[in-house]
Amino acid sequence: MTGTIRLWSAISVIGAMALLGACEKKSPAPAPAGGGGTPAASAPGEITIGHYGSLTGAQATFGKSTDNGIKLAVKEVNAAGGVTVAGKKYTIRLVSEDTEGKPEKAGTVVTKLITKDKVVCVLGEVASSVSLQGAPVCQEYGVPMITPSSTNPDVTRVGDMIFRVCFIDPFQGEACAKFARGELKAAKVAVLFDQASAYSVGLKDEFNKAFKAAGGEIVSEQAYTQGASDFNAQLTRIRESTPDAIFIPGYYSDVTNIALQSRKLGMKMPLLGGDGWDSEELGKNAGEAIEGCFYSNHYAPDQPTAEIQAFVSKYKADFGGVPDGLAALGYDGARLLFEAMGRAKSLSGTDLRDAIGQTKGFKGVTGAITLNDHRDAVKNVVMVERRGGQWVFRASIEPK
Ligand code: PHE
Repeated sequence: MTGTIRLWSAISVIGAMALLGACEKKSPAPAPAGGGGTPAASAPGEITIGHYGSLTGAQATFGKSTDNGIKLAVKEVNAAGGVTVAGKKYTIRLVSEDTEGKPEKAGTVVTKLITKDKVVCVLGEVASSVSLQGAPVCQEYGVPMITPSSTNPDVTRVGDMIFRVCFIDPFQGEACAKFARGELKAAKVAVLFDQASAYSVGLKDEFNKAFKAAGGEIVSEQAYTQGASDFNAQLTRIRESTPDAIFIPGYYSDVTNIALQSRKLGMKMPLLGGDGWDSEELGKNAGEAIEGCFYSNHYAPDQPTAEIQAFVSKYKADFGGVPDGLAALGYDGARLLFEAMGRAKSLSGTDLRDAIGQTKGFKGVTGAITLNDHRDAVKNVVMVERRGGQWVFRASIEPK
């Protein structure tokens, strides 16, 4: 960890505490229920876990899908008798908190989960900029955090308590660049990114680097701010640079507006994006404007493997729609946690951290998950294409 990151994490934690209006003392990781002291908020024989996510706001489908995936995993583990930790059986209780997708909410809700609900582990967030605010709080309290889907490398660099079950953006950016160059045969690409998002800026940089290395040219680089409604100025400049494709590493609500406005300007080239496009809202609201476009993701629900199809039908039965990548990663993150609990010496933060860190070849819906020394998963990137009003599997790109 660098000095800068350490200083910045301390500031975040102090900020979170100030927001709570009190300087609560750091509590040690909660003891197992019924063991050396029952955690205040858990009933005997019960383990409480937390989830913080965008249950409302501009990225609401991210948080809701993740929450559904986690709920399905909790339901299944409890139906199977719960988890056994050091010879004792427990059921799992989930407490979910809404961040509204706002980085500035993360410190408060994560502090609440840890100090009031006494969670032994925190799942979340989706958006890297929000996880970057929640992670220092988990690190400071010594409670492990598993982000299902934040791909910015800096998230797990916050400290040894922070894990993820997804790939990171250097690989995602490279996969998109290879796809643009190799499959789409694009020579000139323009980039339109969200300047306030750690995810968007990071993914843009990685894409640019890899696309140039593959012999391509970045002909225009334009910035926007999340929630903007008019992209005409940036799109007009991009149009002048006559790109073969536009790379937009943003979130689905902004991408919807960008797609609609670009087509109004007569721009017909394919749009390309990262996992932040993953929401049924994009296809629903952008319609024709998004036909023939591509994005990279963590899984594709139309892949015919037994694991994926079993998950899709269980999810449909409970929540009534096709699970997106967020739902699959939420499910995998929670199940990986329960598996790690079964191997942990106790539910203390450090024992749980060690067990999570030793995860190898865990069979997830999104692929086999092995955590590396940086507490990141090394997995395939899946490219999907919008064809006939559906997102269809197009390619799988293997990590090196
Ligand atoms: N990877 C994105 C981020 O780090 C979040 C995301 C993951 C969005 C998966 C959609 C699907 O900000």
